[in-house]
Amino acid sequence: MLSRRIFQQLTDSFLYGSNRLVAGRICSASKCTSCSARRQTTPNAIRHASSSSSTRWKSRQGNDFFAREARVQGLKSRAAFKLLELNEKHKLFKPGQTVVDLGFAPGSWSQVAVNRTAPNGRVVGIDLIPAQPPRGVSTIQGNFLSPTVQAEVRAYVQDPDLGRPRRQISSQQDGGFTEDDVEELERGYIDLERQAHLDAEGAVVEEATEPAETKTSIKAPSQKERDAGQGRVVDVVLSDMLMNTSGIPFKDHAGSMDLCMAALTFCFDTLRTGGHFMCKFYQGSEEKALETKLKRLFTKVHREKPDSSRSASKEAYFVALKRKEAPTREDVFR
Ligand SMILES: C[S@@+](CC[C@H](N)C(=O)[O-])C[C@H]1O[C@@H](n2cnc3c(N)ncnc32)[C@H](O)[C@@H]1O
Repeated sequence: MLSRRIFQQLTDSFLYGSNRLVAGRICSASKCTSCSARRQTTPNAIRHASSSSSTRWKSRQGNDFFAREARVQGLKSRAAFKLLELNEKHKLFKPGQTVVDLGFAPGSWSQVAVNRTAPNGRVVGIDLIPAQPPRGVSTIQGNFLSPTVQAEVRAYVQDPDLGRPRRQISSQQDGGFTEDDVEELERGYIDLERQAHLDAEGAVVEEATEPAETKTSIKAPSQKERDAGQGRVVDVVLSDMLMNTSGIPFKDHAGSMDLCMAALTFCFDTLRTGGHFMCKFYQGSEEKALETKLKRLFTKVHREKPDSSRSASKEAYFVALKRKEAPTREDVFR
């Protein structure tokens, strides 16, 4: 069971100030089992709220220790306790880090990440549905399975100054991000890679033309420089993404594996050496293959079912620690 200490840490009003949850505001996934309240901002949510299953759902939430505790602590959902528990065990966060939270809504993981990476951290949340960003979180609304959205997120994290103050990027559909904007951001990302490549080439040419005695003065790029040159600038990637479950186990499992693979590919592209990845998955026959891929890219991989995850739920988590530098895309995804 979760230790009293974790709750104690959360009760510190300094951490969350007066940012208390007044009314539950949660993801719109109609059968999302992780969240503590229905969103009340869309016609869809209003439709759900009037059904009798919603009444049963509300009463289950009322009896749920973690949901109650989340309300008391001003957390956006009970899901926070899963991350707190796994962070307590695996020490994912440090001050100043860049964290990408895939499937962030309603935002309790982001709240935890903001808190655990302060001061000077930055947290970028991505979700299908529009949701009010928690304080200190930048958000991008869109489907993470879309290559355009993935490119948007990659481009965003490349700029170390973006996302430190609170801001929100609207999706293209909202008329906020045009294709030109994305192209420009993406160009910035590509230019960065190109420049790193040119720098590396320049270093080689210099080495070849300089007299032998000065060769030793050429400094090999540091780990950080090598990572930055490859666009690996993120410290922690979290994915709690899950689509609306259908009740057909294999279908739900397959959908979950697609989301995990998209998140893992994103890790390959953006996670710095030594960075961590935590992702939710719906259990099933393909999870072993996912674990194998994770083991190729990370030094240590743990399979977890946190106490706050309902035992009836088929969800579980992989916590993958310390991204390795050497594996190529082919090595990992073969
Ligand atoms: C369990 S909820 C996340 C709860 C969140 N971790 C928290 O602490 O509040 C799962 C979220 O994943 C999002 N999601 C599912 N599929 C997605 C996709 N393809 N792209 C982006 N978000 C997605 C859902 O909209 C939903 O908000």
